[in-house]
Amino acid sequence: MVDSATEILLPKEDILRRVAELAAMIDRDYAGRELLVIGVLKGAFIFLADIIRALHIPSSVDFVMISSYGSGRESSGSVVIKKDIDALIAGRDILIVEDILDTGITLSGLVDIMKKRNPASLRVCVLLDKPSRRTIPFTADYVGFSIPDAFVVGYGLDCNEKYRHLPDVRIFRDPESSYA
Ligand code: PRP
Repeated sequence: MVDSATEILLPKEDILRRVAELAAMIDRDYAGRELLVIGVLKGAFIFLADIIRALHIPSSVDFVMISSYGSGRESSGSVVIKKDIDALIAGRDILIVEDILDTGITLSGLVDIMKKRNPASLRVCVLLDKPSRRTIPFTADYVGFSIPDAFVVGYGLDCNEKYRHLPDVRIFRDPESSYA
């Protein structure tokens, strides 16, 4: 069931078409190499599942869970790893996969942490980018869609843990909130 408080921003067909395009770019950029794909829990799990199934290069998968604090402080100390990856990443090609890039705090902090582990390379792939929300400068290497500052749910993204299962990305309009 789809809540009447949501409206479609990105239909599933558009998402899957863009996922295929992103995977083709990644295949081309990493031809002949093997990737360790790191998903950022929880929101990235569906996007990651679709990306790795669209890739032709060999990949393995791991997950990390992050807590972020503050708004706009320029510091990698503003994120804390709640669940670390199991894999060792020194000397490996790493692709961090994230559902949404908002203030930039999470990815900026996570990239700083991972770079200290000396990967051979590290790039970031996000499904959604909200550039107008950025408080820390951060540019992802692969971006699915640049979107306006709306509260979005579905395709892994939640509102209080609901809506992650929706196949489309939807704008959530809560009558009680400023998003209405
Ligand atoms: C979301 C998203 C990113 C982060 C982006 O996670 O998945 O991890 O926020 O925001 P930022 O650029 O402002 O740091 P959330 O905290 O909603 O957790 P979830 O992935 O478990 O839904």
